[in-house]
Amino acid sequence: MSKVKKAFFCQKCGNQHAKWQGQCSACKEWNTLVEEIIEKPAAKGWEAPQKKDTLVAQPIPITQIETQREKRLSCRDEELNRVLGGGLVPGSVTLLGGEPGIGKSTLLLQISLLLQQKVLYVSGEESQRQIKLRADRIDASNENCYVLSETGTQKIFHQINELVPDVVIIDSIQTLQTSHIESSPGSVSQIKECTSELIQFAKKTHTPVILVGHITKDGNIAGPKVLEHMVDTVLHFEGDRNHIYRILRAQKNRFGSTAEIGIYEMLSSGLRGVNNPSELLLSQNQTEMSGHAIASTMEGIRPLMLEVQALVSTAVYGTPQRSTTGFNAKRLNMLLAVLEKRAGFQLGAKDVFLNITGGISSEDPALDLAVVGAILSSHHDIALEKNTCFAAEIGLSGELRPVPKLDQRIREAEKLGFETIITAKFKQDDFPKTGIRIVMLSKIEEVVDHLFG
Ligand code: TYD
Ligand code: MG
Repeated sequence: MSKVKKAFFCQKCGNQHAKWQGQCSACKEWNTLVEEIIEKPAAKGWEAPQKKDTLVAQPIPITQIETQREKRLSCRDEELNRVLGGGLVPGSVTLLGGEPGIGKSTLLLQISLLLQQKVLYVSGEESQRQIKLRADRIDASNENCYVLSETGTQKIFHQINELVPDVVIIDSIQTLQTSHIESSPGSVSQIKECTSELIQFAKKTHTPVILVGHITKDGNIAGPKVLEHMVDTVLHFEGDRNHIYRILRAQKNRFGSTAEIGIYEMLSSGLRGVNNPSELLLSQNQTEMSGHAIASTMEGIRPLMLEVQALVSTAVYGTPQRSTTGFNAKRLNMLLAVLEKRAGFQLGAKDVFLNITGGISSEDPALDLAVVGAILSSHHDIALEKNTCFAAEIGLSGELRPVPKLDQRIREAEKLGFETIITAKFKQDDFPKTGIRIVMLSKIEEVVDHLFG
């Protein structure tokens, strides 16, 4: 066996070093050097069971590539299907990341039980008995769901060759270990090698593979960034562990949009998809309170009504505090600056706390107007009118800008019983008649007049 050649690579800039050192001499980042193998003895990770000695890959005209195989496999879970772009693509590798305890294992076990296919669920974290206990809580069963507690990739591939499953689930990639590399499970080179073996397997056999990925303290998937480049789809399961809602987002999707989200509710019997998120996200408390505003937002193709809460109070310390949950803090600062300049509010001496309820975070610019509404309402301590919602972006000069898919936002608001929607000016010619009152304003000053004038 020839000697394995190793070197240290900076995970930030990719510079190669002969020995380990605390700081990368090229980019001056600390603690970014990781040992990697640059040359290893010829070893095969995964081999096709029937070795037909296929020829070297040949280029073929794109028009002649078969595509019938690309029929997607429905996961029997509406939310996951939507996020994946219509189901699992044969031969695709999906990476599911998320905080510990958020429900990654629960989601995948549930899918394994719902799929009416032969599924191999490989766990490197739990014993078969523990998985069974979890499965007992979930309200589904599948005789063709096989559970394997194993971490060695070669042994896993051996079982796969015996069982020939339709879908393979690996929980988690950080626990896997290939015998071709000596470093411990979870190290960069192990993760990379195990993933590439699984990708080879998926592509050659057209079997979809789903991997669970742990995440680091700062919210990135543990391991090399290249992991996310290697796989076809990267999903993030997020949400607050203290809230019952969990959100599934696609960060990368080679076979669909990344704008879609799936919303789940964690129950004692597993995860349940939420079909009418808006109704659940709005607080049922109908008493009028200052500092509350409702925004009509879009997440992908789905309209979502979000509740924004603001608290404006006199700053105790010299520098006023700005704190946000679920909303971009820089955007809040921008909106406060606009309010200060265009509407004459001395918010510089005030602490501002902002929260989007339900543990949801959103980047939709249509939230701007609701944020301003909530801040003004808290500042004046006057509750906004009940059954009013907002949907408009705010520009730097305080102008209200229209947002896309306004018709869907308006329809959702009407469906949920809102009577007024405040939005930017738009062409109303081809807009269908609705029962909801549409107030079109063009400047932030007009908003102040309209709400508190
Ligand atoms: P888990 O799937 O183990 O998380 P991860 O794999 O992402 O680390 O999630 C477990 C949490 O979900 C745990 O705190 C218990 C809870 N849970 C339920 O509320 N209901 C259930 O039916 C199951 C199986 C778990
Ligand atoms: Mg788990």
